[in-house]
Formats: sequence, C-alpha cells, structure tokens
Amino acid sequence: MELKIAVLPGDGIGAEVINAGMKVLGAVAQKFGHTIKAEHGDIGWAALDNGHKTALPPATKELCARSQAIFFGAVGLPDRDKTLPLQERPERVALLELRKGLFANLRHVVLPKNLSHLCPLKPQIIEKGIDIMIIRELTGGLYYGQPQGVTGTAPDRKAVDTMAYSEMEIRRILKVGFETARKRRKRLLSVDKANILATSQLWRELSTAMAKEYPDVAVEHMYVDNASMQLLRRPSEFDVIVTENTFGDILSDEASMLAGSIGLVPSACLGNEFLATYDPAAKNLPRATPFYEPIHGSAPDIAGKDLANPIATILTGSMMLRYTFNLQKEADAIDAATNAVLNEGKTLTGDLGGKSKCSEVTAAVIAKL
Ligand code: IPM
Ligand code: MG
Repeated sequence: MELKIAVLPGDGIGAEVINAGMKVLGAVAQKFGHTIKAEHGDIGWAALDNGHKTALPPATKELCARSQAIFFGAVGLPDRDKTLPLQERPERVALLELRKGLFANLRHVVLPKNLSHLCPLKPQIIEKGIDIMIIRELTGGLYYGQPQGVTGTAPDRKAVDTMAYSEMEIRRILKVGFETARKRRKRLLSVDKANILATSQLWRELSTAMAKEYPDVAVEHMYVDNASMQLLRRPSEFDVIVTENTFGDILSDEASMLAGSIGLVPSACLGNEFLATYDPAAKNLPRATPFYEPIHGSAPDIAGKDLANPIATILTGSMMLRYTFNLQKEADAIDAATNAVLNEGKTLTGDLGGKSKCSEVTAAVIAKL
C-alpha cells in the first residue's frame, strides 16, 4: 500500500519528534511492505521564518488537501506569539484552520504499567491501570459559535462567546463515542452540563436516545464538574469519554497528567471519512484530510537539544495507520514496541525520569519492532 502523508514539523521540538515519528513509520512500512510518500510542508513560525507571509502558506494547504493524512508536530512559540494579534498567531492561522471539518478529536491516555510511579495519584487509586480514550467534539461549541467578540468602548466593553450545537453535530460525535466504546471495553461516559446549558440538555436527550441503539455499551452520564473530580477519584473505571469541545479541551489536559507525562499522549482529528467507516450515509459528505498530532506543544526551552520525548508522536503515527489506513497489525506493532521500551524502563527521556535522548528512544522503539 502507498501512504501519502503531508509532514508538517512546525516549531520548537516539532522537528525532532516528527523526525522520530517518521523513522518509526518508515521502519514499519519496510517491515510490512508498504511505501510511504512523504512530502514536507512549512508551517507556523518555521513558515514565517522561511519567508512565507502566513503561518499556513498556500503551498502547505494544497499539500494537505492532496494528502491522505497530515502528520503534525507543533506550532507557536509563546515569546514570539505575543508580538502578533490573536487572529494572526500560528495556533489560530494554522492549527484551527487545518482542523476544519474534523469534528472528532481522539486523545488516548495510557499509563504504562511500569511507570505508574509517574502518575500523581496514589498507588491504590491506579492499581487497575489507566487506559482512557477521550473523544472531544472539535468543530462546534464556544470556539466557533456566533456572535463572538468584544463590542463597545472601555470601560463599558462587553465580550460574548456563543455555545451552539445542532442535533447533527451532537449525533455524529456521539456515534463516534459509542462505536469506539464498542471496540474497547464497552463503557461510555457522556459528559455534559445538562443542569444548566441548553446545548447540554440537547446532548443529554440525544445521548440517552442513542444508548438504546447500543445495548452492549454501558453508558454513564455525568456533569462536567463532577467528571473532572471522578477522573481523579476512580480513573481506572473510565474507558471512553465523549464530550463537547471546551469540556474536552479541559478534561483531556487533566487526563493527560494521569499518563505520567504529556509527552506520552497521541491524538487524531477525524471527520466524515472516519464516520463513513460505520455510517454509510457519511460516504458522500465532504472530506477533510485527517490530522494527527501529539497533544504536547512546541516546548521551545528544550528544542534542538535531542531531549524531547518522541513517544507521543510515535503513538500518533500508530493512530494514523489505524484510523486512516486501516493497517491494524502495523499499528499494533508500533504500540507493542513502544510499550516494551516504556515498560523496560531503560531508555527513557527526562520527563519520564530517564537520561536518554529523543534519538535513542526512537532507535530503541525501532529495535523492538
Ligand atoms: C489543544 C489546544 C488548542 C485547542 C489551542 C492551542 C487552540 O489547547 O489542542 O487542546 O484549544 O484546541
Ligand atoms: Mg488544549
């Protein structure tokens, strides 16, 4: 099989971790007889510094549109971002733009067995392990609802953000939640704020109705404030969590701490193409190129020193093989090799208490393939 991938390293440690991820993908492709057609694109400050007028140059956009998947490192450098108006910052211009149309954000939080000492929770709370798939709605809610903005003049300005969801938007993300739970431990936690918000009342009504179509999935409904507490109280009991955009943004950062390091958490942003794998009605809907990124940022303080943890990006590559190319054996091979390296505990980066370099961890994973 030929895999056409747009490779966008971006800023800070983006270049190192994407390089690591591509090396592992290359090794897996070779082992299983696939060909990777990778094309690199400029993005973020890396694009601006390379003479482009924007953080998402037209050539990069075109590359993404004609690729099957986007492999993305990180954009943004906090010190330099401050010099730009909000609307021109790389996170807005590049990240939010490439995520357009990709409504399902899967963030996979796993605490490796032998690294449980890195989890900030007490041993008795995590003895059954942590493996949570967070499914965050990504194209609706407060991020995009209109009206949005600041009006008036100081000191009497007014700011407004709108949380809006249509039935269609809620149903399609819930469907991703139920289907994902069905393929895992068959437990779904649907998170809302139905005691206050209208969008959440609709969410609760639709999720309760959809649960009847999935009698094999055990569904729990929870308010978001309670969910943020239960995540720390009984994390082992959670399997799949599905929620709206802002709740998912916050809960996934909280959950990432349970994995011991944000450097371990991969993610995928998926759209209609993915929905169509179990909902034939989605086949003819517009396609956006699936977008794969580690959830950590550009970490400029350690950039260029070969110190970054490449695991999140390596696992992001595995998600790409699984969700876009349907190469399950290949993805399993990456997951197993990565797990072996983590559980062996000999080759770990600084965030995991080790002294190994990014390149050494990458080589260790490849050696286990
Ligand atoms: C994330 C980030 C982004 C988001 C920001 C950088 C726009 O926090 O990927 O979670 O809120 O989606
Ligand atoms: Mg976030």
